[in-house]
Amino acid sequence: MKALVLSGGSGTRLRPFSHSMPKQLVPVANRPILGHVIDSIRELGVTSVAVVVGDRSEEIRAALGDGSSHGVDITYIRQEAPLGLAHCVRIARRFLGDDDFVMYLGDNLLSGGLTEIADRFRADRGDAHLAVRKVDDPHRFGVAEVDSEGRVLRLVEKPEHPVSDLAVVGVYFLTAAVHEAVDAITPSGRGELEITDAIQWLVDRGGDVRASVYQGFWRDTGQVSDVLDCNRELLAGLTPRILGAVDPDSRITGPVVVGESARVTRSRLSGPVVIGAGATVSDSVVGPYTSVGDGCVLDRAGVEDSIVLEGSAVRGVRGVHGSVIGRRASVTEASGTDRRILFIGDDSKVEIHG
Ligand code: G1P
Repeated sequence: MKALVLSGGSGTRLRPFSHSMPKQLVPVANRPILGHVIDSIRELGVTSVAVVVGDRSEEIRAALGDGSSHGVDITYIRQEAPLGLAHCVRIARRFLGDDDFVMYLGDNLLSGGLTEIADRFRADRGDAHLAVRKVDDPHRFGVAEVDSEGRVLRLVEKPEHPVSDLAVVGVYFLTAAVHEAVDAITPSGRGELEITDAIQWLVDRGGDVRASVYQGFWRDTGQVSDVLDCNRELLAGLTPRILGAVDPDSRITGPVVVGESARVTRSRLSGPVVIGAGATVSDSVVGPYTSVGDGCVLDRAGVEDSIVLEGSAVRGVRGVHGSVIGRRASVTEASGTDRRILFIGDDSKVEIHG
């Protein structure tokens, strides 16, 4: 089996972060979402991976390289315009050949539990196998109607009036049968070649399309709140490791990672917390569920349930909660005044108590 990872797309809902980095590189537990995706593919025993990239290709190549650090072999395929998920399959035809493949959306984060679905796909030898999950807001997703035997009867992309509450997870197990389908369909109302339509095309022609309910954690990281959910989920499984220096006046409880050459002084870290390499944390209270990127400075700071991206500083500000702070940003107390002085980038969102 091969893997096709889709990393085009502009990520407008993840602004302002997606202005300056591809949404798939937003870090969760101090690693890009895409890194977690590649690891998940590797766990399925798949090592031949193509990554479809759009106009952010340089940054994605810089982050993943040839895949060797993840134990996989990565080929990059350029998509000139975001013409849809089924279009990605079309342009990957040469790489895929007639092999089975797992198509994995680069902004979907799943933690464990995919192996059983992959095994079922390998054993059943159907045309396609979907992972589905019950959600409260099916209109945000592709929605599947599935019979009691697990056969897919109908798929609808982001329906106004969903026929079921089973969302299609962004991981699809496909066979070469899908190639005829992606060639046959035409663009949807939003002007894209939808993978949902291609799979429906297979169903309409009597194809054997099945679905399994995915039981583990899953988020399509469409919005900042999803990224924070992922951060909590991955930090919950953190293996503690102290590589940097923690002084005797600091107190650590719960699972905490302190990266290489990071320094923690007179601070309280309540895990799960990860502090990146070269970061300095002084007179601060951090955690739980907080990821602090490489080279950050936290001084007299209080940060909880948040992600602080690399090179940022929080000085003299407590009560930061449920927040994401972009790279090289600075949050400081305004000295000698009760004014609030803000230099906020485009599409940012700030919520301040009174
Ligand atoms: C895509 C698919 C949708 C699927 C979702 C999962 O939507 O079109 O069927 O349920 O991924 O993340 P998108 O996130 O591109 O809007």
